[in-house]
Amino acid sequence: MSDNLQKPFYVTTPIYYVNAAPHLGTAYCTILCDVQARFRRAKGEDVKFLTGLDEHGEKVQLAAEDHGMTPQEWCDSLAPAFHDIWETLEISNDDFIRTTEPRQVAAVQHLWNRMKDAGYIYKDSYDGWYCVHEETYYTETQVNKSDEEHHVEGQHLCPECQRPLQRVEEESWFFKLSAFQDRLLKLYDEHPDFVMPGFRMNEVRSFVESGLRDISVSRTSFDWGIPVPFDDGHVTYVWFDALLNYATAVGFGNPDMANEYARRWPAQYHVVGKDIIRFHCVIWPAMLMAIGEPLPEHVFAHGFLMVKNDQTGQGEKMSKSRGNAIAPADVIDLLGVEGYRYYFMTDCVPGEDGAISFSRMEQVYNADLANSWGNLVSRSLNMSAKYFDGKTPELPEGWADRDNPLRKIAQGIEERYASRMAVFDYVGAKDVVMELVHAANHYIEDSAPWTVAKDPARAGELEQIITNLLESIRICAHLFAPFMPQTSAEVLRRMSLEAEADTTDLSATCAWGGLVGGMPVTKGNALFPRLGGKK
Ligand code: MSP
Repeated sequence: MSDNLQKPFYVTTPIYYVNAAPHLGTAYCTILCDVQARFRRAKGEDVKFLTGLDEHGEKVQLAAEDHGMTPQEWCDSLAPAFHDIWETLEISNDDFIRTTEPRQVAAVQHLWNRMKDAGYIYKDSYDGWYCVHEETYYTETQVNKSDEEHHVEGQHLCPECQRPLQRVEEESWFFKLSAFQDRLLKLYDEHPDFVMPGFRMNEVRSFVESGLRDISVSRTSFDWGIPVPFDDGHVTYVWFDALLNYATAVGFGNPDMANEYARRWPAQYHVVGKDIIRFHCVIWPAMLMAIGEPLPEHVFAHGFLMVKNDQTGQGEKMSKSRGNAIAPADVIDLLGVEGYRYYFMTDCVPGEDGAISFSRMEQVYNADLANSWGNLVSRSLNMSAKYFDGKTPELPEGWADRDNPLRKIAQGIEERYASRMAVFDYVGAKDVVMELVHAANHYIEDSAPWTVAKDPARAGELEQIITNLLESIRICAHLFAPFMPQTSAEVLRRMSLEAEADTTDLSATCAWGGLVGGMPVTKGNALFPRLGGKK
């Protein structure tokens, strides 16, 4: 394990626009990363998990004006909502970056100087379309194409969000994105897993193959941005600023953090929504290539959460205007935080769009958590307490070597689970754990401990049965911990095994035979009280 102990693992969420309150989509992405970070910590890796806020740009400036605040006051008033929800959702980020922090300002200005030295920026004038909501430029062709579909008399609409576009004509610095076409295609060829899941690569590749245009990366028509260090009146285009956050947080351009940067950069995973992969898979690697810095290993693109329409059975985009938006608080009310995390992580395939509904949430919660996992824990601990004087049994000699259906499934379980977890296949990882949970519930029925307990001559057999059950529960608790950290800690505590909750050697911890016996048992309340009735 010793080499593993040192292995750095750096995972990031997108930095969220500060002026939209945290919602199911942003929470989804953040929990995806949290589960990965917790899993890697349990594997002994040296994890850095970053999230944060994207605070510059015209959208923020306009919203602040509408609210009679300065942009900074506006951002400061909104940032606590993100801290609060991440705390509630048990997000274990190691750092939280805001693009208005001095470290980001310094890093972005360092980037400008490096870009200039490398010869990949030039000044020109920009004349085209801009969507403030998307903070994205659109070409004449993109706009005209979309106009055919969404034509509104006298107005050009954003191809993405269909809001009216602005005509922008201003002096601007340009980044020579067009110079990177071949290098990007080579990157995709040599690292087919740069974009994950694989099917998303096609979109990225064909975008690059269709030809890249240089992009405008500074603005002069407003001032809420990081000043370009060598050109007064120019502020940095919000995406040019935002993408750099990932490098800033590990010390890019900061001489005091040179060791940290060398150790932590590049990131292993940028987890992002499918709508922002071009920024992450085209512009961001090109920026890094331009200044000769290493590229992130993977960009993992998750799908969108859609609300399932119970009438049509189809997934619909969530929106306030449709009246189908679900707030994180509504889900927490129904499932609790741990149920919330479990549902989104194990019922929505991370790469694909997920169709969510309250009825499905309830179904998954009842089937997996109340009836299977929760029930297994409570039945087993109750029996242990009842038959062994409030304790777990003293372990029978040689118990771990004895064949039984649970031991068979548990052997190699951590490897099977870890191979799924490591590639964000959380549904697959959950299936591996649930196989043992289901087998243990069947084992209770098949071995009927209540009958065995009546016959004093079968005392050894009873010890073995309960020990097998508790050992399975111990292992499942560890494997479920990245999804439901508090429940797992509670299960271990009820078996007086809290000392092993913070393992950094998951594989060894999950080996069959690790149980400590003769420990006090706490029966406790139901971990997942069954939900009744539809919401
Ligand atoms: N600020 C930029 C990101 C800069 S990263 C250098 C941004 N912010 S955002 O707040 O608009 O969006 C953040 C993330 O939320 C995106 O990854 C987006 O895909 C995700 N989601 C927004 N709605 C979503 C769903 N309905 N479902 C899942 N995720 C979705 O873009």
